[in-house]
Amino acid sequence: MNILSPSILAADFAKLGEQIEAVKKAGARYLHIDVMDGQFVPTISFGMPVIRSIRKASELFFDVHLMIDRPERMIERFAESGADLINFHIEANGDPEGTIRRIHSLGKKAAITINPGTPVSAIEPYLEMVDMVLVMTVEPGYGGQKMIVSCLDKVKELRRIADECRLSFDIEVDGGITPENVSMALEAGANVIVAGSAVFRDDIEGNVKRFLEQMR
Ligand code: DX5
Ligand code: ZN
Repeated sequence: MNILSPSILAADFAKLGEQIEAVKKAGARYLHIDVMDGQFVPTISFGMPVIRSIRKASELFFDVHLMIDRPERMIERFAESGADLINFHIEANGDPEGTIRRIHSLGKKAAITINPGTPVSAIEPYLEMVDMVLVMTVEPGYGGQKMIVSCLDKVKELRRIADECRLSFDIEVDGGITPENVSMALEAGANVIVAGSAVFRDDIEGNVKRFLEQMR
């Protein structure tokens, strides 16, 4: 089954509660939550207090994408704040195996993320352990960029490995996805789709519905 994970990075933070309610009403079940530290990526977004507040207001599945240096330091705190799944970047982490174990020991799902310049081989040793792999289709740091189509080759490679090795991890794509190009990502083998700026503008419910129609 294909899943849409709307990224609140593109939301209007003064209306965050209502906008989350709108994506839920339109049929989304995940929420993608981008945490940026101004170190691993050039900009800063938000952290635990925001996640804690929206956790009280929403039962959606919280897909937390940590774009932070040494994410292993912060796993407990994000788990406590309300994450259901924690995504960390292989480029930022010295101990992927320990980090995945720690996430699982807290009862949360674990995902490993690769930047456009990182090959699948960098995460191959961990594929048996993770619940999801996130393939970035833009350089992380900002919403509203154009999808780098060549990153979908890595999605195909991951789907082939999953099939051949009978592994059941989900494959998520993040960056520049719109209702017009989402079918390309699905055809490559992705089954979890992040979308920020194509969801949180104008008619939010209509935007979610347009995505979901393309994802059936
Ligand atoms: C980028 C973030 C994305 C971003 C996607 O660093 O990881 O999740 O919010 O935004 P769009 O869909 O606008 O590319
Ligand atoms: Zn993201």
